[in-house]
Amino acid sequence: MYLLDLLLLSPLVLGSPTGSRRLEAARPIPSFVLEFAPLSHLWSQETWFPSDISSHLSHVVPQVNFTNLTGSVTFQSIGGLPSDVFLTSKDPVEDQPEWMLSTENIPDANGKSGAPATIVVVEKSGGILDAFYFYFYSFNEGNAIFNITPLTFEDHIGDWEHSMVRFVNNTPSVLYLSAHSGGSAFSYSVVQKLNNRAITFIAGGTHANYATPGSHLHGPLNALNDRTDQGPLWDVTLNFRAFWFDNTTQTFSIASGGRGVGGAEENRGEEGTGWLNFGGNWGDQQYPVPEHGQFCLNIIGECKYSDGPTGPIAKNLGRTAVCQDESNCTIQTSL
Ligand SMILES: *[C@@H]1O[C@H](CO)[C@@H](O)[C@H](O)[C@H]1NC(C)=O
Ligand SMILES: *[C@@H]1O[C@H](CO)[C@@H](O)[C@H](O)[C@H]1NC(C)=O
Ligand SMILES: *[C@@H]1O[C@H](CO)[C@@H](O)[C@H](O)[C@H]1NC(C)=O
Ligand SMILES: *[C@@H]1O[C@H](CO)[C@@H](O)[C@H](O)[C@H]1NC(C)=O
Repeated sequence: MYLLDLLLLSPLVLGSPTGSRRLEAARPIPSFVLEFAPLSHLWSQETWFPSDISSHLSHVVPQVNFTNLTGSVTFQSIGGLPSDVFLTSKDPVEDQPEWMLSTENIPDANGKSGAPATIVVVEKSGGILDAFYFYFYSFNEGNAIFNITPLTFEDHIGDWEHSMVRFVNNTPSVLYLSAHSGGSAFSYSVVQKLNNRAITFIAGGTHANYATPGSHLHGPLNALNDRTDQGPLWDVTLNFRAFWFDNTTQTFSIASGGRGVGGAEENRGEEGTGWLNFGGNWGDQQYPVPEHGQFCLNIIGECKYSDGPTGPIAKNLGRTAVCQDESNCTIQTSL
């Protein structure tokens, strides 16, 4: 086992003059981060499933202001791209190619998805460790207004969502769930659990995360409705890439212990961590009317298509309060 670890780590060690520091940095992901990883139900009628970042990157080109910078991107190249870049689909969004749907990544009966999750672990003072479980989807379909308009609003290519468990002295204390531009936080003791793991619910299309199944009204006039239920269960611990984030130096390093396709791809040492520094957007820039069928409804200030999202680096990994938006963070003590 030890020999195997050395073999897996050797490209990192040999490829870097600071090899010994890199080796030291490849600390394993703490076992409690996996033991208490949330289990998530996708919506039973979901169409846009979890996606592998490596597949997504093969279908996009970097653009600024709708103009190509280069003809392709890789894990290595995106870390150096400026933050005004939009990773833009080579296929017209309205064609909805298979890679945007990612149906091959529907979790199997064991909860394993072909799409690796990205787990980022951040140590903070006071015995705190924040474990971020990032979920990536190549396409986000927004909601229809009052569920009646023929069009959905806020669709975009690329979708980064996360849940976060705050551990205090290795014990889970709070669960945070991202949803749209905000999210919600719960005392860990009150959330639904299976084998001590929080159960969360991922809304159809938007992939917003909730602590309960049912209907979740949001947006202007509460006109938009996220739906969650007990669809396919996704266990991210069966396939993931794992990283540490040092908030003091703002740097990522590989954590050993990644599993499945994600762990294998990460351990080949080719992807590195530079891609996590990409500060731009993981999908197309909002199209002007009427390109790609773009349409805006000024009453609610929403358009059919919005910008693709930013990635993990922009999700406030160094947060002190448990919420991404620390200015308005209430930890709920009931569901
Ligand atoms: C973006 O491109 C358009 C059309 O080529 C041009 O008019 C506009 O000035 C550009 N905007 C920026 C910020 O470069
Ligand atoms: C941008 O790059 C893509 C992918 O290489 C290519 O299909 C497209 O034609 C390029 N667009 C322009 C305007 O060169
Ligand atoms: C993380 O680093 C940022 C930037 O230096 C800082 O503002 C923040 O307080 C740090 N977070 C913690 C928990 O120390
Ligand atoms: C604070 O968060 C609550 C619950 O998420 C929300 O209803 C409220 O509008 C937020 N307030 C502000 C000022 O953002």
